[in-house]
Amino acid sequence: MHISRILLGALAAMAFVLTAGAGEAAAQEKKAGAGQAVAQKKKKSRCKDGQPAVVASYKLSKGENIDLQISESLTGKSGDPKAGLKWMVHRRLGNCIACHKVSKIQALAKPDDLKSLRSYGFHGEIGPPLDGVTDRYTEGEIRLIVVSAKKAFPDAYTIMPSFHKKEGYNRVIKDCQGYAMMSAQQIEDVVAYLMTIK
Ligand code: HEC
Repeated sequence: MHISRILLGALAAMAFVLTAGAGEAAAQEKKAGAGQAVAQKKKKSRCKDGQPAVVASYKLSKGENIDLQISESLTGKSGDPKAGLKWMVHRRLGNCIACHKVSKIQALAKPDDLKSLRSYGFHGEIGPPLDGVTDRYTEGEIRLIVVSAKKAFPDAYTIMPSFHKKEGYNRVIKDCQGYAMMSAQQIEDVVAYLMTIK
């Protein structure tokens, strides 16, 4: 009786040491995992924001306000304007507001909220404001401008990037070589958003 009690006690103590050990190991593993996650975050490629390695083919037709347009959706469907807004303010995808003032986007910035200010508040003035863009161009022309500003404005030597091609860029950072700046779906989303701008 006495001996078995001592034995039981010893067994319990051993079990405690074992589980404590396992707990410690698990904690250490977790810590290592977190460290790895931080390292991975640091190494994160700049081309992991949905930039595609494939581009859609499209047919050019005659435009009304500029020579050419792409009258059909690149995906065969219409885009999502809410997503389009996201790509337009995304610093590594569209980043349209780096060059264009868009009053409708500016109106989303709350003066006392730094996060919303950062996302929506600061617009460049390198390109023309996009307010009223639907009065100046058809949807197909807007699509061509976003897909390939070089084809839309062939004589302008425009500095606006061509967002839907994957070759012919100069000095692309290594992570982004072979990728287009935006996918066909993202282009359609942006076009859908631009169509909501008065
Ligand atoms: C590096 C600057 C830059 C960026 C980034 C940029 N654009 Fe432009 N964009 C321009 C310039 C400059 C023009 C005027 C065309 C020219 O060069 O004559 C222009 C013209 C346009 C036009 C025609 C406007 C008009 O009224 O004539 C549209 C529409 C447009 N851009 C949409 C976009 C969208 C959408 C994005 C983001 C996906 C974007 N741009 C990103 C510089 C830029």
